[in-house]
Amino acid sequence: MGDLEAKSGLVTGAANGIGRAVAKRAAEQGSFVLVCDIDDAGGKSCVQEIRDAGGRADFLHVDIAVEDDVAQMVAATCELGGSFDWACNNAVGGTRAFGPLHEVREEDWRSGLEVTLTGTFFCIKQEIIRMLETGGGSIVNISSPAGLQGEAFLAAYSAAKGGVEGLTKTAAAEYAQRGIRINTICPGGIATEAIARYFDFYPEAKEKTIGTHAMRRLGQPEEIADAVVFLASDRSSFVTGHALWVDGGVSVNSHML
Ligand SMILES: NC(=O)c1ccc[n+]([C@@H]2O[C@H](COP(=O)([O-])OP(=O)(O)OC[C@H]3O[C@@H](n4cnc5c(N)ncnc54)[C@H](O)[C@@H]3O)[C@@H](O)[C@H]2O)c1
Repeated sequence: MGDLEAKSGLVTGAANGIGRAVAKRAAEQGSFVLVCDIDDAGGKSCVQEIRDAGGRADFLHVDIAVEDDVAQMVAATCELGGSFDWACNNAVGGTRAFGPLHEVREEDWRSGLEVTLTGTFFCIKQEIIRMLETGGGSIVNISSPAGLQGEAFLAAYSAAKGGVEGLTKTAAAEYAQRGIRINTICPGGIATEAIARYFDFYPEAKEKTIGTHAMRRLGQPEEIADAVVFLASDRSSFVTGHALWVDGGVSVNSHML
């Protein structure tokens, strides 16, 4: 029996990268999964892969920066999956302008925060509203080490992820006694198309990024997906308000090795 057997949940940003791996792994573990994204083609192909493997999934076009979309996403998970047990808020968007803080333009700052912070806030809020009605659940936000230790040249992204960390701990405190757990995962560098595009643009960044990991390699999206399933499932029943680093050792100092 899978860790999410007979449960129902959603993944935002599930058309690609980490979100796609989370959706597939959660379905393998027995859950219905609502695959949510603004990328319709990618989302539909993710659903097809899940169904071809015998899993249960549907796609919904969702822009997490639009609160009505987010409310519909939660309602659809209940209707199509029969319950609402878990959610993985993974989508990242807006302009990921790269450069020193004193050169960040207002529009890039606002755009970076609109999806990654405000959109994640809408998700957490609407998921909690529904979970208060249904008796609880588990929310997993995909954050970043950048949110806790900053990251040079990524001011808006770091601020947005820092905001996600603060929201997560606040919600964990407010709803712990009402059956809702909420945690973050801070992935190290993960081999997705997003990071590949970044390395294409800044080739020198690849070696430097890998060098910050004690394991001296990037992670695979499935290594994040396994951690999401753990936090979404009842196996983590006493874990809330936690930032779980799944990072190949970014958080330890390995530069002498
Ligand atoms: N890849 C890494 O190395 C890494 C490291 C640390 C943290 N993360 C975090 O992991 C998560 C996933 O990263 P990824 O590398 O898979 O990214 P990705 O760019 O491959 O995927 C992000 C997905 O979000 C979707 N999206 C964008 N805007 C949206 C919106 N407004 N509404 C709904 N969906 C939207 C995109 O279409 C895409 O499918 C992000 O939160 C990211 O910050 C990634």
